Amino acid sequence: MVVKKHVIAIDGPSGAGKTSTSKLVAGKLGYTYVDTGAMYRAIAWKSLDEGIDPSDRKSIIRMLGSMRMKVEPRNNKMRICIDGKDVTNKLRARNITQRSSVLSAIGEVRKYLVGIQRKAGAKGGVVMEGRDIGTVIFPGTPYKFFLDASIDKRAKRRFLELKEQGSGIKLARIKEDIKARDRRDSTRKVCPLTRAGDAVLIDSTNMKLKDVANCITNAIKQ
Ligand code: DC
Repeated sequence: MVVKKHVIAIDGPSGAGKTSTSKLVAGKLGYTYVDTGAMYRAIAWKSLDEGIDPSDRKSIIRMLGSMRMKVEPRNNKMRICIDGKDVTNKLRARNITQRSSVLSAIGEVRKYLVGIQRKAGAKGGVVMEGRDIGTVIFPGTPYKFFLDASIDKRAKRRFLELKEQGSGIKLARIKEDIKARDRRDSTRKVCPLTRAGDAVLIDSTNMKLKDVANCITNAIKQ
C-alpha cells in the first residue's frame, strides 16, 4: 500500500515552539522540514546587504526582480542560498528578525515566496512552519496545527535560545521585541497571522516540546 505523504502545516507566533516541534515531527515521520520564516529572513538579509531601507517598497520590489533564492532541505535543516551564496547562518540576528517582520507586510514579498513555498511542499512529505501555511500556502491540507503559548513562556524560550548562542540580550527586551512583532504580524493587511478555522490549537505553555510533537504525530496517525 502506498501511504500518501501530506503537508503538515504548523503555524503560530514567534517563540511558540514551532521550530523544535516541526523538526521533531519531521524526524518521527521521515518528512522534510521547511522553515518559511527563514525565507522572509533571507529577503531581509539581502535588503540589508544592498543597503535598502525596508520602508522603500519600490527598491524592495526591484531587488526581488533581480535576486534568486534557492531552498535546499538537508538533514532536518534547511539551507538557503541567495544568488548562489549560502546565507543560512546569517539569518538569526536581531536586526534581521525585526526587518523580516516589516518586509513580510509587503504583498510583493509574500507573492515572491508563495511559489517557492508551494514548490517546496508540492510532492508532500513535508512539515512546513510559518504564519500562513494553513490559511494561504496549503489551505487544503488536512493536517493543520496552530501552536501558541503565553508571552512570558515565549520570551523565556527565545531568551534561553539566544543565551545558548552567546547573546547577552535581556529577557525584558526580548519580550518587548516579541510583542512588537506579534502586533505587526497579526495586524498587517496581507495574510496576517491567524489560526485557520480547521487548525488544531495547541497551547504549549506548560508542555515539553517533545510532548507537543507527540501530540501532533498522534493526531496525524488517528
Ligand atoms: O518564524 P520566524 O520568526 O523566522 O519569521 C520571521 C518573520 O517572517 C515573522 O516575524 C513574520 C514573517 N513570516 C511570515 O509573515 N509568514 C510566514 N509564513 C513565516 C514568517
